[in-house]
Amino acid sequence: MSTPPKTVLHATDEEAEAIRDAVRAADPASLGPRRARADLSHVAGLVALLHDEAVSGPIYDLPRPITPDSVTRWVAEAQAQALAGEGLLFVTLDEAGEVAGYSKITVWPERASAELAGAMRADAQNQGQGGAGAAHTFGWMFETLGVELIGLTAAIDNVRSAKLIEAAGFRPMGEREVTKPDGTVRRSLYWEMIHEEWRQRHRL
Ligand SMILES: CC(C)(COP(=O)(O)OP(=O)(O)OC[C@H]1O[C@@H](n2cnc3c(N)ncnc32)[C@H](O)[C@@H]1OP(=O)(O)O)[C@@H](O)C(=O)NCCC(=O)NCCS
Repeated sequence: MSTPPKTVLHATDEEAEAIRDAVRAADPASLGPRRARADLSHVAGLVALLHDEAVSGPIYDLPRPITPDSVTRWVAEAQAQALAGEGLLFVTLDEAGEVAGYSKITVWPERASAELAGAMRADAQNQGQGGAGAAHTFGWMFETLGVELIGLTAAIDNVRSAKLIEAAGFRPMGEREVTKPDGTVRRSLYWEMIHEEWRQRHRL
Protein backbone atom coordinates (compact mmCIF):
# COMPACT_ATOMS: atom_id res chain seq x y z
CA MET A 1 0.00 0.00 0.00
CA SER A 2 1.66 3.20 -1.14
CA THR A 3 0.85 6.68 0.06
CA PRO A 4 0.14 9.45 -2.47
CA PRO A 5 2.04 12.75 -2.21
CA LYS A 6 0.98 15.46 0.23
CA THR A 7 0.70 17.99 -2.59
CA VAL A 8 -2.37 17.39 -4.72
CA LEU A 9 -2.05 18.10 -8.45
CA HIS A 10 -4.99 17.74 -10.81
CA ALA A 11 -4.15 16.33 -14.25
CA THR A 12 -6.52 16.79 -17.15
CA ASP A 13 -8.12 13.61 -18.50
CA GLU A 14 -5.72 13.77 -21.48
CA GLU A 15 -2.67 14.18 -19.23
CA ALA A 16 -3.76 11.29 -17.02
CA GLU A 17 -4.35 9.05 -20.04
CA ALA A 18 -0.93 9.95 -21.49
CA ILE A 19 0.70 8.93 -18.20
CA ARG A 20 -1.23 5.64 -18.15
CA ASP A 21 -0.11 4.94 -21.72
CA ALA A 22 3.52 5.75 -20.86
CA VAL A 23 3.43 3.42 -17.87
CA ARG A 24 1.90 0.60 -19.91
CA ALA A 25 4.51 1.04 -22.65
CA ALA A 26 7.51 1.60 -20.34
CA ASP A 27 10.57 -0.37 -21.41
CA PRO A 28 12.80 -1.33 -18.45
CA ALA A 29 15.83 -1.44 -20.79
CA SER A 30 15.46 2.34 -21.22
CA LEU A 31 16.10 2.70 -17.48
CA GLY A 32 19.31 0.70 -17.40
CA PRO A 33 21.03 -2.57 -18.26
CA ARG A 34 19.77 -5.88 -16.87
CA ARG A 35 16.40 -4.42 -15.85
CA ALA A 36 13.22 -6.39 -16.40
CA ARG A 37 9.57 -6.10 -15.47
CA ALA A 38 9.08 -8.40 -12.51
CA ASP A 39 7.10 -11.53 -13.33
CA LEU A 40 6.41 -14.81 -11.60
CA SER A 41 9.80 -16.20 -12.72
CA HIS A 42 11.43 -13.66 -10.35
CA VAL A 43 9.48 -14.63 -7.23
CA ALA A 44 12.14 -16.95 -5.79
CA GLY A 45 14.85 -14.35 -6.44
CA LEU A 46 12.75 -11.59 -4.87
CA VAL A 47 12.02 -13.74 -1.81
CA ALA A 48 15.76 -14.37 -1.37
CA LEU A 49 16.52 -10.65 -1.83
CA LEU A 50 13.80 -9.38 0.49
CA HIS A 51 14.42 -11.96 3.21
CA ASP A 52 17.47 -9.92 4.15
CA GLU A 53 16.39 -7.24 6.67
CA ALA A 54 19.29 -5.08 5.44
CA VAL A 55 17.37 -4.92 2.17
CA SER A 56 13.67 -4.93 3.12
CA GLY A 57 13.76 -3.60 6.70
CA PRO A 58 13.59 0.12 5.83
CA ILE A 59 10.77 -0.19 3.26
CA TYR A 60 7.19 0.36 4.41
CA ASP A 61 5.16 -0.83 1.42
CA LEU A 62 6.47 -4.40 1.09
CA PRO A 63 4.27 -7.40 1.93
CA ARG A 64 4.91 -8.92 5.37
CA PRO A 65 5.98 -11.53 6.10
CA ILE A 66 8.11 -12.14 3.01
CA THR A 67 7.04 -15.57 1.75
CA PRO A 68 6.68 -17.12 -1.72
CA ASP A 69 2.90 -16.58 -1.41
CA SER A 70 3.05 -12.95 -0.32
CA VAL A 71 5.67 -12.09 -2.95
CA THR A 72 3.69 -13.92 -5.66
CA ARG A 73 0.65 -11.78 -4.77
CA TRP A 74 2.80 -8.63 -4.71
CA VAL A 75 4.22 -9.36 -8.19
CA ALA A 76 0.77 -10.23 -9.58
CA GLU A 77 -0.69 -7.01 -8.13
CA ALA A 78 2.16 -5.04 -9.69
CA GLN A 79 1.45 -6.66 -13.07
CA ALA A 80 -2.20 -5.61 -12.75
CA GLN A 81 -1.12 -2.08 -11.78
CA ALA A 82 1.13 -1.95 -14.86
CA LEU A 83 -1.77 -2.95 -17.11
CA ALA A 84 -3.84 -0.18 -15.55
CA GLY A 85 -0.97 2.28 -16.09
CA GLU A 86 -0.66 2.85 -12.35
CA GLY A 87 2.62 1.23 -11.40
CA LEU A 88 5.75 -0.65 -12.36
CA LEU A 89 7.82 -3.24 -10.58
CA PHE A 90 11.28 -3.72 -12.05
CA VAL A 91 14.00 -6.13 -11.01
CA THR A 92 17.70 -5.59 -11.55
CA LEU A 93 19.57 -8.79 -12.42
CA ASP A 94 23.24 -9.41 -11.74
CA GLU A 95 25.61 -10.91 -14.28
CA ALA A 96 24.55 -14.40 -13.18
CA GLY A 97 20.91 -13.51 -13.79
CA GLU A 98 20.04 -13.42 -10.07
CA VAL A 99 17.73 -10.74 -8.68
CA ALA A 100 20.08 -8.13 -7.18
CA GLY A 101 17.63 -5.30 -6.64
CA TYR A 102 14.17 -3.95 -7.34
CA SER A 103 12.41 -0.65 -8.01
CA LYS A 104 8.73 -0.09 -7.43
CA ILE A 105 7.12 2.93 -8.98
CA THR A 106 3.57 3.79 -7.94
CA VAL A 107 1.74 6.24 -10.17
CA TRP A 108 -1.37 8.32 -9.55
CA PRO A 109 -2.20 9.41 -13.14
CA GLU A 110 -5.10 11.71 -12.13
CA ARG A 111 -2.62 13.57 -9.90
CA ALA A 112 0.30 13.38 -12.40
CA SER A 113 2.27 12.06 -9.43
CA ALA A 114 4.43 9.11 -8.53
CA GLU A 115 6.42 7.52 -5.73
CA LEU A 116 9.57 5.37 -5.90
CA ALA A 117 10.72 2.66 -3.52
CA GLY A 118 13.54 0.22 -4.00
CA ALA A 119 16.50 -1.63 -2.63
CA MET A 120 19.72 -3.30 -3.62
CA ARG A 121 21.25 -6.52 -2.34
CA ALA A 122 23.41 -5.91 0.71
CA ASP A 123 26.66 -6.70 -1.13
CA ALA A 124 25.93 -3.88 -3.59
CA GLN A 125 25.05 -1.25 -0.95
CA ASN A 126 27.34 1.58 0.18
CA GLN A 127 29.25 1.83 -3.09
CA GLY A 128 27.58 4.92 -4.47
CA GLN A 129 25.45 2.91 -6.90
CA GLY A 130 22.21 3.66 -5.07
CA GLY A 131 22.62 7.43 -5.34
CA ALA A 132 23.49 7.29 -9.03
CA GLY A 133 20.74 4.79 -9.83
CA ALA A 134 18.05 6.67 -7.92
CA ALA A 135 18.92 10.01 -9.55
CA HIS A 136 18.72 8.37 -12.97
CA THR A 137 15.36 6.79 -12.10
CA PHE A 138 13.88 10.11 -10.92
CA GLY A 139 14.78 11.70 -14.28
CA TRP A 140 13.33 8.72 -16.12
CA MET A 141 10.06 9.00 -14.18
CA PHE A 142 9.69 12.69 -15.09
CA GLU A 143 10.82 12.37 -18.70
CA THR A 144 9.54 8.93 -19.74
CA LEU A 145 6.40 8.54 -17.64
CA GLY A 146 5.56 12.23 -17.81
CA VAL A 147 4.66 12.73 -14.16
CA GLU A 148 4.85 16.26 -12.75
CA LEU A 149 5.48 15.43 -9.08
CA ILE A 150 7.44 12.76 -7.21
CA GLY A 151 6.93 12.21 -3.47
CA LEU A 152 9.39 10.13 -1.46
CA THR A 153 9.25 8.63 1.99
CA ALA A 154 12.03 7.16 4.13
CA ALA A 155 12.26 5.78 7.64
CA ILE A 156 13.36 8.46 10.12
CA ASP A 157 16.71 6.72 10.68
CA ASN A 158 17.43 5.93 7.01
CA VAL A 159 20.45 8.23 6.68
CA ARG A 160 21.56 6.82 3.32
CA SER A 161 18.18 7.39 1.70
CA ALA A 162 17.88 10.91 3.12
CA LYS A 163 21.33 11.77 1.76
CA LEU A 164 20.72 10.45 -1.71
CA ILE A 165 17.23 11.99 -1.91
CA GLU A 166 18.50 15.45 -0.91
CA ALA A 167 21.56 15.09 -3.18
CA ALA A 168 19.10 14.56 -6.05
CA GLY A 169 17.45 17.89 -5.21
CA PHE A 170 14.26 16.87 -3.39
CA ARG A 171 12.75 19.38 -0.94
CA PRO A 172 12.36 18.11 2.63
CA MET A 173 8.70 18.49 3.68
CA GLY A 174 8.82 17.32 7.26
CA GLU A 175 7.40 14.06 8.47
CA ARG A 176 4.33 12.05 7.63
CA GLU A 177 2.69 8.85 8.73
CA VAL A 178 2.54 5.95 6.28
CA THR A 179 0.51 2.77 6.70
CA LYS A 180 2.19 -0.58 6.26
CA PRO A 181 0.30 -3.46 4.63
CA ASP A 182 -0.25 -4.98 8.10
CA GLY A 183 -2.11 -1.80 9.12
CA THR A 184 0.56 -0.45 11.45
CA VAL A 185 1.66 3.14 11.03
CA ARG A 186 5.25 4.32 10.58
CA ARG A 187 6.43 7.91 11.05
CA SER A 188 8.59 8.80 8.09
CA LEU A 189 10.60 11.60 6.56
CA TYR A 190 9.02 13.04 3.44
CA TRP A 191 10.28 14.90 0.34
CA GLU A 192 8.87 16.17 -2.93
CA MET A 193 10.16 17.47 -6.25
CA ILE A 194 8.23 18.82 -9.24
CA HIS A 195 9.25 18.28 -12.85
CA GLU A 196 10.16 21.96 -13.31
CA GLU A 197 12.63 21.80 -10.42
CA TRP A 198 14.21 18.75 -12.06
CA ARG A 199 14.41 20.53 -15.44
CA GLN A 200 16.05 23.60 -13.93
CA ARG A 201 18.54 21.49 -12.01
CA HIS A 202 19.48 19.61 -15.17
CA ARG A 203 19.02 22.66 -17.47
CA LEU A 204 16.64 20.75 -19.72
C1 LIG B 1 19.10 3.06 0.16
C2 LIG B 1 20.03 2.43 -0.88
C3 LIG B 1 19.28 2.27 -2.22
C4 LIG B 1 21.18 3.42 -1.07
O1 LIG B 1 22.08 2.89 -1.98
P1 LIG B 1 23.64 2.76 -1.62
O2 LIG B 1 24.37 2.44 -2.88
O3 LIG B 1 23.79 1.85 -0.47
O4 LIG B 1 23.97 4.21 -1.15
P2 LIG B 1 25.16 5.14 -1.57
O5 LIG B 1 26.46 4.38 -1.45
O6 LIG B 1 24.83 5.82 -2.87
O7 LIG B 1 25.12 6.16 -0.35
C5 LIG B 1 24.13 7.15 -0.20
C6 LIG B 1 24.70 8.25 0.68
O8 LIG B 1 24.66 7.84 2.05
C7 LIG B 1 25.93 8.05 2.63
N1 LIG B 1 26.09 7.08 3.71
C8 LIG B 1 26.21 5.74 3.62
N2 LIG B 1 26.25 5.20 4.84
C9 LIG B 1 26.14 6.21 5.71
C10 LIG B 1 26.13 6.30 7.15
N3 LIG B 1 26.20 5.21 7.90
N4 LIG B 1 26.02 7.51 7.71
C11 LIG B 1 25.93 8.62 6.94
N5 LIG B 1 25.94 8.60 5.60
C12 LIG B 1 26.04 7.41 5.00
C13 LIG B 1 26.89 7.88 1.48
O9 LIG B 1 28.16 8.48 1.74
C14 LIG B 1 26.17 8.58 0.38
O10 LIG B 1 26.26 9.98 0.50
P3 LIG B 1 27.20 10.81 -0.49
O11 LIG B 1 26.64 10.55 -1.87
O12 LIG B 1 27.02 12.20 -0.03
O13 LIG B 1 28.56 10.24 -0.33
C15 LIG B 1 20.60 1.06 -0.44
O14 LIG B 1 21.46 1.24 0.67
C16 LIG B 1 19.53 0.07 -0.06
O15 LIG B 1 19.06 -0.69 -0.91
N6 LIG B 1 19.16 0.05 1.25
C17 LIG B 1 18.14 -0.85 1.77
C18 LIG B 1 16.73 -0.45 1.35
C19 LIG B 1 16.41 1.00 1.51
O16 LIG B 1 16.72 1.64 2.49
N7 LIG B 1 15.72 1.53 0.48
C20 LIG B 1 15.29 2.91 0.43
C21 LIG B 1 14.00 3.08 1.13
S1 LIG B 1 13.50 4.82 1.06
